[in-house]
Amino acid sequence: MSESKIVKLVDESTNRSSELPLLSGTLGPACIDIGTLYKDTGHFTYDPGYGSTASTKSAITYIDGDKGVLLYRGYPIEQLAEKSNFLETSYLLLNGELPTKDQFSKFEHDITHHTMMHESLKDFFKGFHHDAHPMAMLAASVASLSAFYHDDIDVDNADDRKLAAIRLIAKMPTIAAACYRYSIGWPFRYPRNNLEYVDRFLHMMFEVPSEPLELSPVAAKALDLLFILHADHEQNASTSTVRLVGSTGANPYASIAAGITALWGPAHGGANEAVLEMLQEIGTADKVETAVKRAKDKNDNFRLMGFGHRVYKNFDPRAKIIREMTHKVLGELGINDPLLEVAMKLEEAALKDDYFVERKLYPNVDFYSGIIYKALGIPTEMFTVMFAIARTAGWIAHWIEQHETPGARIGRPRQIYTGADVRDYVAADKR
Ligand code: CMC
Repeated sequence: MSESKIVKLVDESTNRSSELPLLSGTLGPACIDIGTLYKDTGHFTYDPGYGSTASTKSAITYIDGDKGVLLYRGYPIEQLAEKSNFLETSYLLLNGELPTKDQFSKFEHDITHHTMMHESLKDFFKGFHHDAHPMAMLAASVASLSAFYHDDIDVDNADDRKLAAIRLIAKMPTIAAACYRYSIGWPFRYPRNNLEYVDRFLHMMFEVPSEPLELSPVAAKALDLLFILHADHEQNASTSTVRLVGSTGANPYASIAAGITALWGPAHGGANEAVLEMLQEIGTADKVETAVKRAKDKNDNFRLMGFGHRVYKNFDPRAKIIREMTHKVLGELGINDPLLEVAMKLEEAALKDDYFVERKLYPNVDFYSGIIYKALGIPTEMFTVMFAIARTAGWIAHWIEQHETPGARIGRPRQIYTGADVRDYVAADKR
């Protein structure tokens, strides 16, 4: 972290000025530190949607959107996707380094032994209507963990923070599977300690009391890979939400629940569900052209879901990996899904269309992931829940980093007020 140059900003109408340091990280563009701007000039900055604003310093994840680069703790996503697994990647995000064999064994043991949810939490599900969206149930259930683990958590204590991280990564699949099973009226399954993380989750999702479940290694490997790719993505909307809530000193489970609600929107993690619905609506490859036309029409609010990204102005590196994997997984599972043909035609049409080329709109991580989830038997409304299980590792790593950073302050943006000027109250009979 260096602080070499100074940017001088002068308000010529008042002659007030500010000398603002230029901060440089390890990689990426330098940032103008505007911390003293208001004091020096009496002005705020205005950046709705944070297109030019870095909200924090972080050592966890790096994205170069122009080159299509994604690094977790310095490691390229392609290498992690090929060589790591989700739990090891989670350890890396949390601790900054890949684990030794012993460190990994301990981490896996700790995760495995915190997978059960409190029996009383199960009763909460009875309050939900059977067709409640699983993301609504997930957010509420994770928020309710704060009712089970509140008094014994000191957010300023490193061991307590670590325990919260372990509990969250461990319990998320158990709660997620419960959301699914509740919605279809199946009894909840207990987590099996003899299974690995992803196998255990698939078991809790799909095992029925009447017959044993044959777990497909292809399915487990594919899901593990999707979890790695979704595990973190620097200061996206849900992570920034976790950090904002965390900045108030809130309980970690409440902070992560807030992240889940932010993830649910179709502009963010909800896009994977929206992509599959869009592909189903398009239906056949011959209707792709009409869909592309609609997506370009500014009077039509239809967008190509799974296309475009705030940061990537080149291929999303995750989308490249998932695209390749989709063909492999469907081939290995012997599935011939006509939606894959629709998706490929849509990608091809958009990539050579001027509208998408000029705006640098490429397929993102969510474009192909739904086709894989569908092939694994995961229902569409559970897609964003899958994303949430994986992103929990990133959210909690950011929450920990935020609490480890000295001098952190509550997040409190300002605004340009556009409402009425000062005026006097008018009695009801005079309005
Ligand atoms: N289809 C059609 N036009 C689009 C699309 C799209 N998917 N995405 C952006 N545009 C257009 C947009 O209308 C605008 O055009 P113009 O300059 O003429 O006004 C231009 O491209 C720039 O778009 P923007 O909305 O200003 O870009 P943004 O950075 O604010 O939004 C986004 C990024 C991801 C929300 C947006 O691209 C989008 O809505 N994509 C579809 C939803 C989606 O796939 N979301 C998942 C994101 S990746 C997973 C995750 O990290 O959550």
